[in-house]
Amino acid sequence: MNLIMKMLAAPATVLALWAVSAQAATNDDIAKRLEPVGQVCVQGQECKGMEVAATAGGGGGARTPDEVIAKHCNACHGTGLLGAPKIKDTAAWKERADHQGGLDGILAKAITGINAMPPKGTCADCTDEELKGAIKEMSGL
Ligand code: HEC
Repeated sequence: MNLIMKMLAAPATVLALWAVSAQAATNDDIAKRLEPVGQVCVQGQECKGMEVAATAGGGGGARTPDEVIAKHCNACHGTGLLGAPKIKDTAAWKERADHQGGLDGILAKAITGINAMPPKGTCADCTDEELKGAIKEMSGL
């Protein structure tokens, strides 16, 4: 009887150990699988893989002339709608600049608006510098 118990107990122990190690392996696997997804980024600490997202946001930096033009000016100045001087029609822009006292003169008109030209060309939150950049780009002046 004693011998039989021992014979039964041995495989049971092996089975139990196997079960424990199998469980451990499974937990490891799960932990590994969760790793990239479960990573938490804490503000002020280095967070691998987040640099790109952080810089892509821009953090409120100035818009490029092309961005301003595409979003706000192109609708009219792309086709010359309502008599707007067309993008890259430098002669048309130069004539205006000559009458308004140069680039800063037409910039001032763009800020206040002139006839069908809405104030700031609808870019209400554009800075003067952003508007000037867009005007330079559109006029080639
Ligand atoms: C709704 C149409 C429209 C949009 C949008 C628009 N413009 Fe104009 N813009 C005009 C028209 C029309 C004129 C010509 C106005 C006139 O002289 O009668 C004009 C003229 C101008 C002039 C010349 C002003 C002058 O003194 O002769 C500048 C500079 C200018 N726009 C800049 C911009 C910029 C920069 C943007 C984008 C941020 C923009 N515009 C968006 C319609 C528009």
